[in-house]
Amino acid sequence: MTDVVTSPAGTKAAAALLEIDHLMVMFPVRAGTWGAVVGHVHAVDDVTLTLAEGETLGLVGESGCGKTTLARTLVRLTEPTGGTIRFRGEDLTAKRNKDLRSFRRYVQMVFQDPQASLNPRKRISQIVGAGIRLRGTSKGMKARREVEELLARVGLDPDHAQRYPHEFSGGQRQRIGIARALAADPKLVILDEPVSALDVSIQAQIVNLLDDLQDEFGLSYVFVAHDLSVVRHVSDRIAVMYLGKIVELSSSDELYAQPMHPYTASLLDAIPIPDPDRRRDRRRLVGELPSATNPPPGCRFHTRCPWATDLCTEVEPPLAEFANGHEVACHHPLNVGRTQLSEAIRSESSPRSSGAELTLSPAEAHRVEIDEAQGKDETP
Ligand SMILES: Nc1ncnc2c1ncn2[C@@H]1O[C@H](COP(=O)(O)OP(=O)(O)OP(=O)(O)O)[C@@H](O)[C@H]1O
Ligand code: SF4
Ligand SMILES: [Mg+2]
Repeated sequence: MTDVVTSPAGTKAAAALLEIDHLMVMFPVRAGTWGAVVGHVHAVDDVTLTLAEGETLGLVGESGCGKTTLARTLVRLTEPTGGTIRFRGEDLTAKRNKDLRSFRRYVQMVFQDPQASLNPRKRISQIVGAGIRLRGTSKGMKARREVEELLARVGLDPDHAQRYPHEFSGGQRQRIGIARALAADPKLVILDEPVSALDVSIQAQIVNLLDDLQDEFGLSYVFVAHDLSVVRHVSDRIAVMYLGKIVELSSSDELYAQPMHPYTASLLDAIPIPDPDRRRDRRRLVGELPSATNPPPGCRFHTRCPWATDLCTEVEPPLAEFANGHEVACHHPLNVGRTQLSEAIRSESSPRSSGAELTLSPAEAHRVEIDEAQGKDETP
């Protein structure tokens, strides 16, 4: 029987594969001759998320918001500063040495840059074979045959198994990276911008391949991207990250139809519309991502948010949970009415540093603000 759990987004899901609980990753900033620690980069700051078996969670945000750090921490390539990560109920953060090595076969990673992530001195058969060795079930001829089968499955010629990475194109190298990850027979694959470095024409092929492999091998994915257009069709749910924090989490369809966080809305507005007869009121993101060493107080987005009020500069908004498990960390969320605002509850996933009370502004006043600002911002 499959256990049923309630995810942080409130949706009933199959037993959680991965549970990330108040995860923190701080990198020390050193200065001076003796390398004294003068501050910390808040790369991942109190993140709570779950992933169900077979689910794809999209993780989206601008460059430098902490996506790769979070992704690497999930496979323990980066050590967390605090919080826990549970995989099928087991605490990964407590695993060491042999235990950690045997866990690695279950959670694999595909990297953004296929060129840099493949050892140039190793043949493809060795690179993909390493995953099979991690599994420890096949050796010799059997392992070689499995490498060839995997290469064929990801769309590569098995006869090229003795070639080196530089003999392949960017798209082919990413297929090798995917074969390497699959070789270990994982349950979860962390895809860190797997198509960002590829030509647009190749991107769709790789996304389709990942989609097919997910069904065939029963995989769960965390799919990292820096823009929302890439993850839309592959993700069941999407988490939007800003300066180390999750600011919005919802089903993929709802996030696109009714973004509640102003940051998500501006990421959506940045997606080009191919139809010249359609237009969109654009709320472009202004300014740079603030320093992760000294993040703004209150809501971290307040320095760039068109709706920021005094409250936003002082109190960090907790994640508020709305109907359908849609979560947003904003005092003045978009696309919700007065009733929905009054029914929202503080999510259990809220960061510990956020305000204890849910302080949502009256919907009517907010609507007026939105209408006024949109009137000013309309683009022809
Ligand atoms: N090893 C490290 N030491 C110190 N700071 C780091 C380290 N790795 C990442 N950072 C910092 O942590 C923050 C988050 O970086 P990260 O690479 O996770 O962002 P990202 O969202 O993946 O960005 P991108 O879209 O450019 O890949 C950044 O400020 C970055 O400079
Ligand atoms: S809390 Fe305030 S500053 Fe932050 S996103 Fe919401 S409206 Fe903008
Ligand atoms: Mg990254």
